[in-house]
Parts: sequence; structure tokens; C-alpha cells
Amino acid sequence: MKSLVISLCLGFVLSSTLKFSPHEWNKLILTHHWPHTFCSMEQCKTNFSYWTLHGFWPNSGMGCNSTWHFNASLIKDLMPEMKTYWPDLLHPASTAFWKHEWFKHGTCAAKSEDLNTQHKYFSKALELYHKLDLDGVLKKCQILPAENPYKLDDLEKCITDVYKVTPKIQCVPKGQEEQILGQIEVCVDKQFQLVDCEKASKLLWSRDNEDLLFAHIRHSGFTVCDPSVPIYYPMADTL
Ligand SMILES: *[C@@H]1O[C@H](CO)[C@@H](O)[C@H](O)[C@H]1NC(C)=O
Ligand SMILES: *[C@@H]1O[C@H](CO)[C@@H](O)[C@H](O)[C@H]1NC(C)=O
Ligand SMILES: *[C@@H]1O[C@H](CO)[C@@H](O)[C@H](O)[C@H]1NC(C)=O
Repeated sequence: MKSLVISLCLGFVLSSTLKFSPHEWNKLILTHHWPHTFCSMEQCKTNFSYWTLHGFWPNSGMGCNSTWHFNASLIKDLMPEMKTYWPDLLHPASTAFWKHEWFKHGTCAAKSEDLNTQHKYFSKALELYHKLDLDGVLKKCQILPAENPYKLDDLEKCITDVYKVTPKIQCVPKGQEEQILGQIEVCVDKQFQLVDCEKASKLLWSRDNEDLLFAHIRHSGFTVCDPSVPIYYPMADTL
């Protein structure tokens, strides 16, 4: 009897796992990063003084169509904006970062009719980036790069008051006493309406670091900021 119950339970778990298709996503994560934090980890130099785009990621699926190659000439008209708002901080003259983003995330986003071309995918990300204006939102709350640290609560409140949804704020831990503000994710649904981001990834892999792996990072990368640790928002010349 006991083993029957166990196998019934196991069967249920297995069948519900199988129903879950890794390519089905219901949210898109617009990830912004603070160039100075990125460059302090990667030892690059940056003169960007605003939050730039890191990626536009479905919350499930990666590398959904390996035969759908990135073609920069399809987004030629977007290039000035791409270079300004979605720059490759490591290799400014290259298109390899966008190729990587397309291969890993864009091909999965493309399951949606609204995003099923490279032009639609990249231009939608830029459109949302402008609409959200995260950089302007932080500035309006007087959350600016500074020598004194911020509390996670204050950052969260600022963003939540404007967007009415919960963002995911990520830091680079630095010892036990401080953490550096690095990345802010804002989430939308398939209709591009703002929705809460999940604080902790329930996925089997760690999404937080995956794109940093592309940058051959030696450090562990970003984690969700710890609410009990002061957050430093670095200015360019303090790094
Ligand atoms: C950063 O510097 C590059 C060249 O050195 C320049 O093309 C670019 O416009 C600058 N970006 C900003 C945000 O000032
Ligand atoms: C993958 O991309 C190719 C090239 O664009 C396309 O012809 C094919 O239909 C795509 N496959 C799937 C499963 O979407
Ligand atoms: C890239 O797209 C352009 C414009 O549609 C096309 O002419 C070119 O053949 C494509 N290149 C590749 C390698 O598919």
C-alpha cells in the first residue's frame, strides 16, 4: 500500500514535470546594468553615465533555434541606438554581444508573434527601455551614484512606486559589509505589460550569471541584493 502511494506520487511528479516545456515562457525580463559595476568586474573602461541594457530574456528557454543566425544588417537602422543604449561594454566595435543575445534569448522570445524577427526583438527591447526610463526613475528619487550607501528598501520603493510591480535588484557582494549595485531587472508579460519579477529564480539553472559567463568572468557575479547589507552605487571615479 505504502509503495503504491509512493509510486502514485512519483508518477504525478514525473507527469507534471514532463508537461513543463522549457521553451514555454510567460514573462520577459528586461535587464539593465550599471556600466561602472560591470566594468569594475571585467576590468573594462566605460564612460557611460547611465543604466544600459544587458538583455531581454524570456523567463524560460535558451538557445531555441540554432539555425536562426544573427544578421546585423537586419537591424542596421537600430545600430545607433543599440550602440548607445545596449552597448557591448567589453568590445564596443563588435556585434558579438548582440549575436549572443539573439542566439540565447532572442530565438526563444521569437516564439511570440510580436517578437518573431530580429528587428522586432531588438526594437521592442529598446522601446521598453525608453518607456521604462529606469535611469530617469532613479534620478527622480535622488538615487544617484554616491559615496554613501543606500538601503535595498529605498531602491525597491523608488522603482515600485513608479512601475507598481516588483523589480529584481542585483548586487555584487563585497565581503560581509557591503555590496555593489549591479543590475536591475524589470519584467513584462507577453503583452508587454509590467508584472512582478521573481526574486529568486525557480529555474534549474542560474540565469543571473549566464551572460556574465559569456564575458569570461572570474568572479561569481551578481546575486539578489541582501536587504541587510548596505548597497554602494559607485561613481565612475571611485572604482
Ligand atoms: C564614450 O566615448 C566614446 C569614444 O571614446 C564616444 O564615442 C561615446 O559617445 C562616449 N559615450 C558617452 C556616453 O559619453
Ligand atoms: C528556426 O529558424 C529557421 C531560420 O529562420 C526557420 O526556418 C525555422 O522554422 C525555425 N525553427 C523553429 C522550430 O522555429
Ligand atoms: C542578412 O540580411 C540581409 C538583408 O536582408 C541579406 O541581404 C543577407 O543575405 C543576410 N545575410 C546572411 C548571411 O544571411
